[in-house]
Amino acid sequence: MSAVVVTQDTETLSAIHASSFPDSWTALFFGALLAQPGVFALATSETYPAGFILIRVVADEAEILTLAVKPDQRSHGHGRALMTAAMKLMIESHVERCFLEVSVDNVAAIGLYTRTGFATCGRRRDYYQRGLGHIDAIMMDRQLKSAS
Ligand SMILES: CC(C)(COP(=O)(O)OP(=O)(O)OC[C@H]1O[C@@H](n2cnc3c(N)ncnc32)[C@H](O)[C@@H]1OP(=O)(O)O)[C@@H](O)C(=O)NCCC(=O)NCCS
Repeated sequence: MSAVVVTQDTETLSAIHASSFPDSWTALFFGALLAQPGVFALATSETYPAGFILIRVVADEAEILTLAVKPDQRSHGHGRALMTAAMKLMIESHVERCFLEVSVDNVAAIGLYTRTGFATCGRRRDYYQRGLGHIDAIMMDRQLKSAS
């Protein structure tokens, strides 16, 4: 598998995001996010990446803003590689706790986060729009200080 790299390629981030979520984020929106302090995007490779992760670091905490792997490249370890690289970057940035929100029915993402050391720490009712209704999010976190 290719090495994970920091990227600013907002067109590619937007295209991969659109392949994975119904409410896709534009390249312009990714650009605005990446212009904020502490926001980083990591991709699985420089050219034609399979996926990316977007994180925000604020002092000793970090949030996973979004994460996506192209549908035809899933289940090959890209998601885990992105999570591992993001947590390495967080530790280097002296982050002590990482948190995220995920839809309660997103089995693949919850599986990946659990596999990479995250545990449920809360629930947000009706957090995501789903069709005409809403669905809850679970909040997950992981301490990083003692991670090796
Ligand atoms: C979630 C997502 C990023 C996983 O990426 P991936 O490259 O397929 O994941 P990996 O191949 O690295 O899998 C790592 C672990 O995740 C879990 N996992 C991945 N896909 C899974 C699935 N369909 N069902 C259950 N667990 C799954 C497994 O624990 C797996 O470890 P294992 O292979 O040792 O069992 C991908 O499914 C995706 O892009 N989904 C759509 C976007 C999304 O929901 N993003 C998260 C928003 S919070």
